[in-house]
Amino acid sequence: MDLKGKRAFIAGVGDDQGFGWAIAKALAEAGCEILVGTWTPILKIFTTSYELGKFDASRKLSDGSLMQIKKVYALDASFDHPEDVPQDILENKRYKAASGYTISEVASQVEKDFGKIDFLVHSLANAPEVKKPLLETSRSGYLAALSSSSYSLVSLIAHFGPIMHTGGSALSLTYLASERAVPGYGGGMSSAKAALESDTRTLAFEAGRKWNIRINTISAGPLRSRAAKAIGFIDKMIEYSNHNAPLQREMTAEDVGASALFLLSPAARAITGTILYVDNGMHAMGVAMDSPAFASQEQPAPSV
Ligand SMILES: NC(=O)c1ccc[n+]([C@@H]2O[C@H](COP(=O)([O-])OP(=O)(O)OC[C@H]3O[C@@H](n4cnc5c(N)ncnc54)[C@H](O)[C@@H]3O)[C@@H](O)[C@H]2O)c1
Repeated sequence: MDLKGKRAFIAGVGDDQGFGWAIAKALAEAGCEILVGTWTPILKIFTTSYELGKFDASRKLSDGSLMQIKKVYALDASFDHPEDVPQDILENKRYKAASGYTISEVASQVEKDFGKIDFLVHSLANAPEVKKPLLETSRSGYLAALSSSSYSLVSLIAHFGPIMHTGGSALSLTYLASERAVPGYGGGMSSAKAALESDTRTLAFEAGRKWNIRINTISAGPLRSRAAKAIGFIDKMIEYSNHNAPLQREMTAEDVGASALFLLSPAARAITGTILYVDNGMHAMGVAMDSPAFASQEQPAPSV
């Protein structure tokens, strides 16, 4: 895959453990120029760690060079325009030193700095009440989950669409809890992922017609990222997948990076509005293979 001369903006890179980083690396490996958007409150820790060389081991590309991030932008994808930022956020000590972090401002700064981009990646989610079951989630918690995790995609496409080269593409990350009940994935996050997937189809049509760009989403299996560890049951989800998925291996961020590279690249030029499952096949299962129901002698678990 040769993506020399192409440029990507990846929203939602805060360390070297998540999907955003792995997608950046897969694109960089193919020669693509990398710009990232990092959540404003963690911008300083991310840039300091990067400059101090804390990510150097994970920056290493196959030719021995280090992945270069051309520029890191402060981004808060909950806000579209400067006038949307409430006073308490403006005065918050982790936002005070930053400016220009709303989606419209970041898009116009990227255009000023570099001109057009080819690829846009949405690798972010947030739900303040994620640990609460949906039945106990407040209206404001639910709407906050939708705002940061779903509307952020609509807004990113709306503001970056005009600065994307024709034939470019965008990608987001979703999760199976949008279409199957996954107890523990609360606070409206399951609803937010359902919205994200539905919007992927509608945006694919609208942005396809308007700018000739493609929009897809990857439904990823469980990964021990910072965001997932904050939810709290990630180890159980990984173990569950190991017991029950068709492929009994732990999915890595690199697995998602490789599939993202394909979906973003011209190799997927006729694919848009789709959900690609990168989850060791977990989504295809209708039964849990480790259920006690399969343990009895009378009904042995199907085996090959
Ligand atoms: N980890 C999993 O098991 C898993 C599975 C399926 C899908 N996903 C999805 O993958 C995507 C990336 O998550 P990850 O698991 O790699 O974790 P991550 O912690 O690496 O990435 C999430 C990023 O979102 C950023 N963020 C949160 N709110 C933001 C905001 N308002 N504006 C800008 N940035 C914001 C965080 O700072 C963080 O860098 C998310 O959409 C997540 O829902 C994760």
